[in-house]
Amino acid sequence: MATANQIRKPFLKWAGAKTKLVRSIKSLLPVTGSRFVEPFVGAGAVFLNSDYKANLLCDSNADLISLYRTLKENGEEFIARCQSLFTNGNNTAERFYELRAEFNATDNPTRRGALFVYLNRHCYNGLCRYNRKGHFNTPFGRYIRPYFPAKEMAEFAGKLQGVDLSTQDFRDTFGMLKPGDVVYCDPPYIPLSATANFTDYASGGFSQEDQENLAGCCVEAARRGATVVISNHDSTIARNLYETASRVIQVTVSRTISCDGGNRGKVDEILAVFSPAEGRRVAPASMESSLTPVEPLGKLGAENHGPGRMRTLSNTMRGWLLENHYEDVAALIEDVIHRWEKAGVRTRRNWWDVLAGDKRGNANTIAGVQLPVLKAARIRKGLEATPDSLCRNQAEQIPPFKVTRRWSTKGKHERKNRRAKERV
Ligand SMILES: C[S@@+](CC[C@H](N)C(=O)[O-])C[C@H]1O[C@@H](n2cnc3c(N)ncnc32)[C@H](O)[C@@H]1O
Repeated sequence: MATANQIRKPFLKWAGAKTKLVRSIKSLLPVTGSRFVEPFVGAGAVFLNSDYKANLLCDSNADLISLYRTLKENGEEFIARCQSLFTNGNNTAERFYELRAEFNATDNPTRRGALFVYLNRHCYNGLCRYNRKGHFNTPFGRYIRPYFPAKEMAEFAGKLQGVDLSTQDFRDTFGMLKPGDVVYCDPPYIPLSATANFTDYASGGFSQEDQENLAGCCVEAARRGATVVISNHDSTIARNLYETASRVIQVTVSRTISCDGGNRGKVDEILAVFSPAEGRRVAPASMESSLTPVEPLGKLGAENHGPGRMRTLSNTMRGWLLENHYEDVAALIEDVIHRWEKAGVRTRRNWWDVLAGDKRGNANTIAGVQLPVLKAARIRKGLEATPDSLCRNQAEQIPPFKVTRRWSTKGKHERKNRRAKERV
């Protein structure tokens, strides 16, 4: 059990979990609120470390909320069921894909919940990702001995007693707020980088419009007497979105920022507080008009081939990634391309080069998405494989490097000289 001063860790691995920021976030939350509300609860790091009499936890991920319900109702018995899946025999790629298929096929909430915990600790980086059909599709993570979070689950189960849980969009959660509520909002991040006119997020389609709606909800909630703290990457867009907040503070957090576990970095985040008094200030007429003009993305590609002829992800590259269990990398690339297409950017990329990283093996960031460094891509480019470059499939074939013929400028000069002579 954690002591009063220790930060408790959630039992789920969750992208963007706020364990490292809990102290800063808590310092901004009033302790006297009548109810604590999280519209984007995820792994629940802030809830777990708070102590309010009433709590409402929501998220749009139905598997997550269903798991919390099962844990709340069945406690120890459910934890034992989850633990029974953490065996050496189940820690192989073959069993992982069988259990993942079972998860995608079953409607039984207890079995699905237990498999969700198994997948969370056995899949690549604990990434919770679904395909367009709604099937969980994160590949096998290859951990030597996945940790079973028995003590963390028991602690969470205890905290869940008396808590209201709901699978819903944040707009519905905001619609349920009452004066005196204390709200912590941790939405999917606004991407960093120059991709200011983004429309979609790498992980689940949280659009710019959603971010704007959410900022509007914060202003309105404070106007109606709730206190809202919201976190996001520190960027011009975020600062503009939260410009009517009563307080904005910057915090630096070191965390994994790419899907390659080897790439860790420090990123700045902001915490904005909308307090009831400030909520009465006049909010911008339209959130949209409060955004500063953003740089168009048109400069990104040196070679433009026009929409419909986007050749950024060749079929062979995609095929190779999928065959070698890099589905998540293929999805990251697709997300970047999708975003470019929506923004009307015409570009062509050699993704093998991108995935090879720079000469030193540092990961490349394209359109705000940090791509991992693949061992195969480095070798293919004639670079040395760095120790942390990703290699999921020991038997992977390195595709041959295709030499692209460069156009000679010789003929161009000859033609130009001939035309000049003709004119004389
Ligand atoms: C950054 S994570 C929250 C992490 C959490 N604070 C923690 O400590 O683990 C964002 C969460 O928002 C949820 N989400 C995404 N879109 C949503 C929406 N429209 N409404 C409600 N929740 C949403 C995701 O399922 C995810 O759990």
